[in-house]
Amino acid sequence: MSAYIDSRINRGVQVIAFNRPERKNALTVEMYETLAALLQSAEQDGQVRCAVFTGHGGLFTSGNDIQDFVTRPPQTNDHPVLQFLRGLATFPKPMIAAVEGIAVGVGVTMLLHCDLVFVSRSAKLKLPFVNLALCPEAGASVLLPERAGYPKAAELLLLGDTFSGEDAAAWGIANRISEPGMTLSDALAAAERIAAQPPAAVRATLSLIRGWRQSATLDAIAREAEAFRERLNSPEAAEAFQAFLEKRPPDFSRFT
Ligand code: COA
Repeated sequence: MSAYIDSRINRGVQVIAFNRPERKNALTVEMYETLAALLQSAEQDGQVRCAVFTGHGGLFTSGNDIQDFVTRPPQTNDHPVLQFLRGLATFPKPMIAAVEGIAVGVGVTMLLHCDLVFVSRSAKLKLPFVNLALCPEAGASVLLPERAGYPKAAELLLLGDTFSGEDAAAWGIANRISEPGMTLSDALAAAERIAAQPPAAVRATLSLIRGWRQSATLDAIAREAEAFRERLNSPEAAEAFQAFLEKRPPDFSRFT
């Protein structure tokens, strides 16, 4: 279990928290491994009726740890990142996210799998996959256009601009805006209400309303993983990662 993920179960709610604030809660392979294992145990544990994702330090997560991605890229389908993403796509119980501060990359795409998303008014979200010479993951290529509509999805993915909690709610990525610092208590209040509902009825409802999305999402995750791998190994990505590590803007002018 990664020391950077903590988890507790209380009143039927499993809270899973990213806890690496010194790196803006960026996710490493070990953290993905732990997240995948926690989802699997939460699925099987009859005491768990609902999962809540959150982060420490007033942040959600800055997404994949870029250094880690360069040294240990997800080359195979059993890589922990893919285990976690498939776990999200198939988790049969309600998932809720409490998003404070920063949510980048997978910090946003994982929200597309959550049933309820509470986002702080002052949160800053972005999807800089193209900016890093990558492409969407976590099923975002189908889930984002579905949630936000094609024009907004294209804009968010192609420009990679930062957007606010209010924007996320307006564009169907979040359910509700919380005041800063209140997302977790708002998420827990909803989670505890759901945990008190009849669990089989909750699962049946989720299965019905998620409907066709599940297989479409799993297909998208597999397609995206292939394209993502290709992108990760590209000279464009080498320039983007080098620029990040050297804290300079990337220069893509030599690529065709
Ligand atoms: N991977 C690796 N390291 C990361 C990281 C990530 N995703 N996000 C933040 N860090 C590191 C920073 O490099 C910095 O390290 P340093 O102290 O050695 O310089 C440290 O965490 C603190 O981050 P910093 O950039 O100083 O914080 P900030 O508040 O100015 O900016 C972000 C926060 C999230 C906007 C900025 O760190 C960022 O853009 N990170 C990259 C996010 C990203 O592109 N993720 C998608 C990957 S697919």
